[in-house]
Amino acid sequence: MEISLKKSLNKDQQNGTLVTFVSKAKEGKKSAPAHPDKDLAALVKDAADEKTFSGDKKESILFRNCNLGGAKHVLFIGLGDKVDGETLRSAGGTAYSLIKSNKLKNVVVDLESAVRLAGGKAPEAAQALAEGLALSDYAFDDYKNMKKKKDEKPEKVEIAFLTGAKSSNAAVNKAVDTALILAETSNFSKWLGDLPGNLMTPTILADETVKAAKGTGVKVTVWDKARIKKEGFGGLLGVSLGSSEEPRFIIMEYKGAGAKAKPVVFVGKGLTFDSGGISIKPSAAMEEMKYDMCGGANVIGTILAIAKLKLKINVVGLVPSTENMPGPSANKPGDIMIARNGKTVEIFNTDAEGRLILADALSYASELKPAAIIDAATLTGAIVMALSNIHTGVFTRSSKLMRQIQDASDLTGELVWQMPLVDFHYDDVKGTYADLCNISNYKGAGSSTAAAFLEQFVDDGIPWAHFDIAGTAWNTANRQSYVPKKGATAVMLRTFVELAKELG
Ligand code: BES
Ligand code: ZN
Ligand code: ZN
Repeated sequence: MEISLKKSLNKDQQNGTLVTFVSKAKEGKKSAPAHPDKDLAALVKDAADEKTFSGDKKESILFRNCNLGGAKHVLFIGLGDKVDGETLRSAGGTAYSLIKSNKLKNVVVDLESAVRLAGGKAPEAAQALAEGLALSDYAFDDYKNMKKKKDEKPEKVEIAFLTGAKSSNAAVNKAVDTALILAETSNFSKWLGDLPGNLMTPTILADETVKAAKGTGVKVTVWDKARIKKEGFGGLLGVSLGSSEEPRFIIMEYKGAGAKAKPVVFVGKGLTFDSGGISIKPSAAMEEMKYDMCGGANVIGTILAIAKLKLKINVVGLVPSTENMPGPSANKPGDIMIARNGKTVEIFNTDAEGRLILADALSYASELKPAAIIDAATLTGAIVMALSNIHTGVFTRSSKLMRQIQDASDLTGELVWQMPLVDFHYDDVKGTYADLCNISNYKGAGSSTAAAFLEQFVDDGIPWAHFDIAGTAWNTANRQSYVPKKGATAVMLRTFVELAKELG
């Protein structure tokens, strides 16, 4: 399905389906979810009396051919009793799957009913609903039934927002446009993440970034292997040595503010396939390691989103990209490499490669004298044990930055959890024959020791936060209606855009 969202149609322009929202019926009395339209209220009351629909979150009921509320079919979606942005985003996701499964056409979304229940403003409600709808409009099916699809056109569904007199159409239009940009760039990041290792190499990742940035005002520079070597990126070069695919270092620059404004730098791990290298991983679920570039993919999407939204800030995106493979020239346990900032690292486990490529990128980021550095990486299995696919683990020593991150996360519904990072974690990654060791000398706290390793490559005084997205970057088990059950999630993209507005 391919959806296009239109804005603010008049009620009488629709002859298809009305999607409208109700809150949960009050407990106790024989009450029904309230709806201001008398006829529609009677419909839901019947359903409530029959106990088929109470208006709770995730509940829905479709009345076909009822010809009420100015529509042929009416789809009610429950919002529960506490309605916030995330409730509306989820409702948008629920609406999308029902529109699709019931093959509904000419859909009009009753924005006013959502605004009333959220007790908020029309633009905010429109953005959340539109995000839920448009983020849901993604499936990685490029390689399924390819022959058949060549002759078939994707089904196009138009969805319009019905706004009442109280809502400002211009503001609603802008909010829907914002949602569409966030969804389009998120869905692009998901696509980059979902492509398997043979179809998503470092070279392809760089080429796709260049292609996607055309016309957005983002300048993309790509370093090849020779340049990476010349620039002293010992970590990125070292990790790439076992592979026949060349590494790439992708630099994206967007200047929405004056030349003097310090940029916010986003860094993303772009490991296009992580076999573990010589310290090879077990075969079970190794295919999941195609997602090891999701940090990079989501940073690429973040910069594109910021540019398309024309935000008045300066941002830079840095993506070190390589495969991690065993091979005759591969990094060996015990090898010592020299990172961009001159620090040396003993490699005790070639599977702890993410921190090696990020080391160079973080050092380079520090040289840009940024306002802040934010990195995202599918860095450790330990964070999956600690937080599952529910929260992204955040590591920062700045309480101010953590508050800004939490505020951004509250707005976007992308859950974060602050994890510990203290000097003891750094003690555990000190090296014997080099400055650092790429794995901890002790058991446990693997995500924190990884973060402490990364911190060694960020210059003092620069606010920095590390996001370990190993648990949340894919396979979210259908926890949220608008996020794929399986596959890349583009997690943190929307949070990073919010955060950039604060930091830039
Ligand atoms: N890409 C993995 C981390 C990972 C694990 C992501 C599971 C998603 C799911 C990373 O490169 C890695 O292999 N980390 C090792 C580090 C260890 C050797 C210190 C890990 O977490 O096991
Ligand atoms: Zn690894
Ligand atoms: Zn990895």
